[in-house]
Amino acid sequence: MPSDSRSLFDLNPDYSISTRITEQGTVISVGDGIIWVQGLPSAMMDEVIYLEDGSTALVFLLDPEKLGAIVLEQKASLSSGISVRRSGRRLDITIGDSVLGRVLDPLGRPLDDMPAPADHQRGLLEVTSPTILDRNFVRNPLYTGNRIIDSQIPIGKGQRQLIIGDNGLGKTSLAVDAILRQQGEDVLCVYVSIGQTRSSVATLIDTLQEQGATAYTTLVVAEANELSGCRYLAPFSGCAIAEYWMQRGKDTLIIYDDLTQHAQAYRELSLLLHRPPGREAYPGDIFYLHSRLLERTTVLSPELGGGSMTALPIVETKQGEIASYIPTNLISITDGQIYLDQKLFAAGMLPAIDVTRSVSRIGGKAQHPAIKQEAGRIRLDYLQFLELEAFTRFGTRLEPAMEAKLKRGRVLRQIMVQDRLTPVSATGQLTWLIAYNEKLLDDCELNRLPSILLQLEAAAKQSKLTLDASRDQWRQQIQTWLQPT
Ligand SMILES: Nc1ncnc2c1ncn2[C@@H]1O[C@H](COP(=O)(O)OP(=O)(O)OP(=O)(O)O)[C@@H](O)[C@H]1O
Ligand SMILES: [Mg+2]
Repeated sequence: MPSDSRSLFDLNPDYSISTRITEQGTVISVGDGIIWVQGLPSAMMDEVIYLEDGSTALVFLLDPEKLGAIVLEQKASLSSGISVRRSGRRLDITIGDSVLGRVLDPLGRPLDDMPAPADHQRGLLEVTSPTILDRNFVRNPLYTGNRIIDSQIPIGKGQRQLIIGDNGLGKTSLAVDAILRQQGEDVLCVYVSIGQTRSSVATLIDTLQEQGATAYTTLVVAEANELSGCRYLAPFSGCAIAEYWMQRGKDTLIIYDDLTQHAQAYRELSLLLHRPPGREAYPGDIFYLHSRLLERTTVLSPELGGGSMTALPIVETKQGEIASYIPTNLISITDGQIYLDQKLFAAGMLPAIDVTRSVSRIGGKAQHPAIKQEAGRIRLDYLQFLELEAFTRFGTRLEPAMEAKLKRGRVLRQIMVQDRLTPVSATGQLTWLIAYNEKLLDDCELNRLPSILLQLEAAAKQSKLTLDASRDQWRQQIQTWLQPT
């Protein structure tokens, strides 16, 4: 203060005094990844709050007297009695090209021993999904490289296709193969791992690295031993990352592995925060949780750049029961499902996709006309074959025509067996379809089929013919490829 009688205001006329009121709350209890706070009456849902010891939390429940929050970052000193203040902001993470090829946690922190990604852009975890007018129809195919899916359960860019099945039937393998197939396709991939063990995540990262898929893939990982808040946020983080690229006109593919774990994390949080439990103890808004996540999957209209996000959410069933709560919810939210069957797996028919119980409601519109035309009858043929085979188990004597049908069915079933990490190209798909429809594979021994298919696939890759070439050209080409040398 100057010694004469002039005040600060005379020295600096711009200086003004005003009161700034900030609320200060207090943590009243801590435990299991959540905190209860008193004294923040104007805090909002989904607002980040700062704790005095440097921890952060996310408001998840508002009561008249107190609020419940999910702990995001927990310091060792977090305990009841410490003060809390509002941030006025919602949760966001680093997005953009700097996160491509990285392994991150749901808050965007690196898990791959590399420096944190450059933080030029941030994206909110929760945003509203694009309006109907902002969306376009699903028109372009997204190839998964799987013979069964690409021919009979086709997926289009912007589609949500559920992968459903018991544990250990190859759900993750299918999704990973779909990522590997995107090599050279200009599709950016995000793999969200929820509640898996560290060893399975490490195996997955190794596979992606060995197959050269890390350059176009980002992993968001919330391990099984993470706080439930972290597992709950993981799919939203992954979605925010993919959404950024979609809004810039890119095609993206996102895998949520798996939403059963996600639903369980949400149930855990909700029960800890005393929200009323509903069916199977899940909170009443569990359907809303998954639908608001999956509604963000779409194709944007050309005015908005025409980018797309395709989602392959995974859900685990118990004893093949698809009518339980979370699976039925997800089946009704998505545009189709790929069902993996225990019996097929046990019989060694891998991938164990049960064609009879799988469906793609919109992907057919995105299928290339050539593939669509060839694949059209295959499903029906196969279903007829299964019925016929069941019938002949009783040792019925068959007419030669039926015998031939059975033989063809067995060939088709063998074609559908496909090893992991062997994605088939689009022309490769067309090749086997034409070869099968032209009865060029009927006389092959079943155990020789895999190598013949590989040979056809390699030849199709070398060939200059495209999907748009005429069927005759393809047929002649395939005949020459199949001629014994
Ligand atoms: N097409 C395939 N060919 C050979 N083996 C396969 C194939 N698909 C999956 N497998 C094998 O099946 C096993 C289970 O696969 P995976 O881990 O993908 O199943 P999952 O359904 O994701 O399991 P979980 O429920 O534990 O997540 C793995 O050992 C995998 O190598
Ligand atoms: Mg799995």
